[in-house]
Amino acid sequence: MDGETTPGGTAPGEETTGARDASSPHPSRKTVLRAAAAAAVAAPLAFMGVPALARTAAADGTAPEATPACDDGDDPTPPQMEGPYFKPNSPRRTSLLEPGTPGTRLTVSGYVFGLGCRPISGVLLDFWQADVNGAYDNTGFRFRGHQYTDAQGMFRLTTVVPGLYPGRTRHIHVKAQAPGRPVLTTQLYFPGEPRNNTDSLYDPRLLMTVRDAGGSREAAFDFVLNIPQGPGPTPTGSPTTQPPGGTWAAGTTYAAGDRVTYGGTAYVCLQGHLAQPGWQPPAVPALWRVA
Ligand SMILES: [Fe+2]
Repeated sequence: MDGETTPGGTAPGEETTGARDASSPHPSRKTVLRAAAAAAVAAPLAFMGVPALARTAAADGTAPEATPACDDGDDPTPPQMEGPYFKPNSPRRTSLLEPGTPGTRLTVSGYVFGLGCRPISGVLLDFWQADVNGAYDNTGFRFRGHQYTDAQGMFRLTTVVPGLYPGRTRHIHVKAQAPGRPVLTTQLYFPGEPRNNTDSLYDPRLLMTVRDAGGSREAAFDFVLNIPQGPGPTPTGSPTTQPPGGTWAAGTTYAAGDRVTYGGTAYVCLQGHLAQPGWQPPAVPALWRVA
């Protein structure tokens, strides 16, 4: 036993919820948040005050069956126990890989939001995890590192898939702290792990989405910190509405379902937005997909 097996992190019924979250065809809240964050990044002034706009249309222009709203007072990311292996003063680094580090490569990326569903920059994220053999480095700082979210509220961690150790399912520890705010201590989990069913700390609300990427893994997780956020900036001026279609052009207001060409490739708009320089379809997959 390692001291992290104390029950208390999971309420009755949550594992059922987790099974649904992991397999549901509906967009999970995180998925929607992620798309919304990308839209918010893409439209920092025009749309941040209207977060629902980015969530009301699916790729085919119809409303998705589940339309979670980011501004409906949804719960923040739940806390979990720190466990016995946290160490302060980890090095600042986004990659925990060192020369010769064994293990399956893993990236974890995502955004940090406040309760108003707007990304927060400068959030301290301190990660620690077991190595491929399930061991923590308690003398040095292997597999320990902190970083800050960028101007868009995004983070990216490069590491390996942590190994298992007795009493626990696979997990990554993290502390998240927005400037001048309390620390959120929690843990992130991997879908499809057999031990998720037996680890009393496991919480499906803390599941990352994980996909295979040619021998490595790419995980995503968005944090929601318990930080109130008022209404966003009011849009100034009126977007110039132009007929959709034709070649993509900055300054054009596109609606979900609109089709354009860019660089000889056809794209379909996923979310309504006012196109800006730098938001060319290949650069903003949250807004455009190849037709
Ligand atoms: Fe742990």
